[in-house]
Amino acid sequence: MPRSIYIETYGCQMNLADTEIINGILNEQGYELATDPEHADAVFMNTCAIREHAEQRIYGRLSNFAHLKKRNPRMVFGILGCMAERLRKDLFERNSIIDIVCGPDEYRRLPALIDEALLGEQGVRTQLSRVETYDDIVPLRTEGLSAWISVMRGCDKFCTYCVVPFTRGRERSRSLHGVVSEARELFDRGFREVTLLGQNVNSYRDGDHDFAALLAAVSSVDACLRVRFTTSHPQDMSDALIDTIAAHENICNYIHLPFQSGSDRILDLMNRSYTREHYLDLIWRIRERIPTVALSTDIIAGFPTETEEEHLMTLSLLEEVRFDSAFMFKYSPREKTRAWSMGDDIQDAVKGRRLEEIIDVQRRISYEINQTRIGKMERILIEGASKRSEEEWMGRTDTNKSVIIPESNISPGSYADVRIVAATSATLFGETPTPVAVRAA
Ligand code: SAH
Ligand code: SF4
Ligand code: F3S
Repeated sequence: MPRSIYIETYGCQMNLADTEIINGILNEQGYELATDPEHADAVFMNTCAIREHAEQRIYGRLSNFAHLKKRNPRMVFGILGCMAERLRKDLFERNSIIDIVCGPDEYRRLPALIDEALLGEQGVRTQLSRVETYDDIVPLRTEGLSAWISVMRGCDKFCTYCVVPFTRGRERSRSLHGVVSEARELFDRGFREVTLLGQNVNSYRDGDHDFAALLAAVSSVDACLRVRFTTSHPQDMSDALIDTIAAHENICNYIHLPFQSGSDRILDLMNRSYTREHYLDLIWRIRERIPTVALSTDIIAGFPTETEEEHLMTLSLLEEVRFDSAFMFKYSPREKTRAWSMGDDIQDAVKGRRLEEIIDVQRRISYEINQTRIGKMERILIEGASKRSEEEWMGRTDTNKSVIIPESNISPGSYADVRIVAATSATLFGETPTPVAVRAA
């Protein structure tokens, strides 16, 4: 009987993409995917270490899993991903059910680690690599419309609050050829949207090819393939890249551009290497070239020493830019990072209140922006039944907004035009859509 594995994934899209790589590696060795942990020979958690809260969730889930191990002592338990890299062999002391600890650059060793674990040995592999990109591994993806493609790994930015450079290692890019052929295969299998992933995709480089060249190459796979990308760093976003997005119909008019704080002093303490003025200037340059662009961002509330006035600067930046959406977090100190030694002097209640204020402002702005879509036509890629009900269908705009429509006979993966009739801060609602053919330009 083939052995089976079960993996739960936490954290960012890079981790979701890594899980598909891990499944690809193990599938090649004859492993099958189990749909529930009860019946798996090996259970893995692909973990996130970005904030304390992320790690607490993992410990909570691990204690849920303890009874499985009691019932079946031969079951192999593994911690993968960023928490594995951060805590290494300490994890064995923290939880007795763990057999394997394997960091993000060591997934090729998983088959051997599982074999050793079945013989009763604990295994820990957490070497980071300067070259590993898994370029030759075929990720195992379930069928669908939308796929993630990691185009680079690691990060060299060393923002002072962030563990990623420690958990993912140095920045390295995959080959342009590898990425483009993966996108082409996905398109041929019926996928209609790819998201190119990296912690800072703007610094992608393969020989003479930069990220603008990669985006253009992927967009030329087919006019019906939507191309998304994340994350962009405000310091590295070139005019050439903005022009490339503007020039290609199928590169989505949606940019995730984290600003983190509206205060120059805090940005400097964060080592973000840009100022508020530079950031705003970039936003205006983007909007000048891509007037219909949607923008989202990341914000941290309560960074060490942040004053009330500096917090207000974050709120005013939100008002000035008017983002379509934002991911907003309370600062969480992480060991090893430079900010760790700056202390954590903002009381939790104050951080919480500042975060609430940020969320309130952003929710209102998202709502106001979405209200302006009412009465307008949007082109959506139909995804199928919505999460909530079979009678409601869902599609996504180029600007990454979900549109709920009545149940439809248009097949998922087709494009359609729809008139928007209502909107909340998170969702648009449309009438019965009209199918459209998207042709190569
Ligand atoms: N590479 C991306 C994403 C990194 S993680 C980028 O540079 O934007 C996603 C977000 O988590 C970050 O943008 C930041 O807003 C937040 N984050 C990272 N470390 C954090 C910490 N220690 N505490 C709170 N939020 C953090
Ligand atoms: Fe972390 Fe900064 Fe790198 Fe993003 S750019 S992953 S926030 S170090
Ligand atoms: Fe978390 Fe690692 Fe991603 S720390 S956010 S899973 S890169």
